[in-house]
Amino acid sequence: MTRKSILQKAVFPVAGLGTRFLPATKAQPKEMLPVVDKPLIQYAVEEAYAAGVRHMIFVNGRNKRAIEDHFDTAYELEHELELAGKKELLALVHSLMPADMVCSYVRQPRMLGLGHAVLCARHLVGNDPFAVLLADDLMMGEPPVLAQMAEQFEQLQASVLAVQEVPLDQVKRYGIVAGDSAGERLTKVNQIIEKPSPDKTPSRIGVAGRYVLTPAIFDLIARQKSGVGGEIQLTDAIADLTQQESVYAYQYKGKRYDCGSKEGFLEATVELALKHPQVGAYFRDYLKGLKID
Ligand code: UTP
Repeated sequence: MTRKSILQKAVFPVAGLGTRFLPATKAQPKEMLPVVDKPLIQYAVEEAYAAGVRHMIFVNGRNKRAIEDHFDTAYELEHELELAGKKELLALVHSLMPADMVCSYVRQPRMLGLGHAVLCARHLVGNDPFAVLLADDLMMGEPPVLAQMAEQFEQLQASVLAVQEVPLDQVKRYGIVAGDSAGERLTKVNQIIEKPSPDKTPSRIGVAGRYVLTPAIFDLIARQKSGVGGEIQLTDAIADLTQQESVYAYQYKGKRYDCGSKEGFLEATVELALKHPQVGAYFRDYLKGLKID
């Protein structure tokens, strides 16, 4: 499914070190780790495409080649598949790069934080609204989570953050929002704070790795001093944005897997393997036969 959208651009910050996944991330970005048979970045790109986005902007760090190659022609592979008559596999490889999808790459020269990574894409985004997708948050929703947000954006004409309720002992891992109810699943944000401690948190509503932002955010990021962890925080710029424009938190319909952590990655792998058309039935029998005490 794909939708027509005024949201045409998406930024994928993929410059993080992925230290929680070392040694797997020593020579490749964590966004290339596969869940069953698809890298995390491809799930996110497909989600953006389904929301109507056609310009994918990747903010790379070192180890940038793997993602560029993934969304590029692979002449040798395609030639071999063609010679071998493997039409289905060839179609699968071609489907990664629909004809109307454009990819751009920009380098984040120093890892100064998520806000800084987004700012690196400014010249490619220009004066348009845009999405930010953190591909290590794997989102499963129907319609896809970014498509739900694009619809909210079109109605509200204001920035929209994907949120979910998180346990109190986990608020220090999230940007946390508080505000006033603005309808079903919607909160008008009047406070947002990065990684608060459980005793200081204004709520348990945490931001997941999906944002739809107006371009006004760029000036505000550019003005940020380093925040939590010494990084330029996107959250701090969003806090400033709430002083200028309305910003909404949207409780998305769907499930999020925190694939930046080993636990979330394993949960995603097991659940998506069970649903996989090729291996699902086999894997279900396999799990049933496991003796776990
Ligand atoms: P994380 O906080 O998950 O950091 O970044 P990380 O370095 O990727 O992973 P760990 O904690 O070391 O295991 C959140 C998102 O922001 C991007 C990351 O790629 C990830 O998608 N990011 C973060 C950047 O692109 N640049 C930065 O300077 C920081």
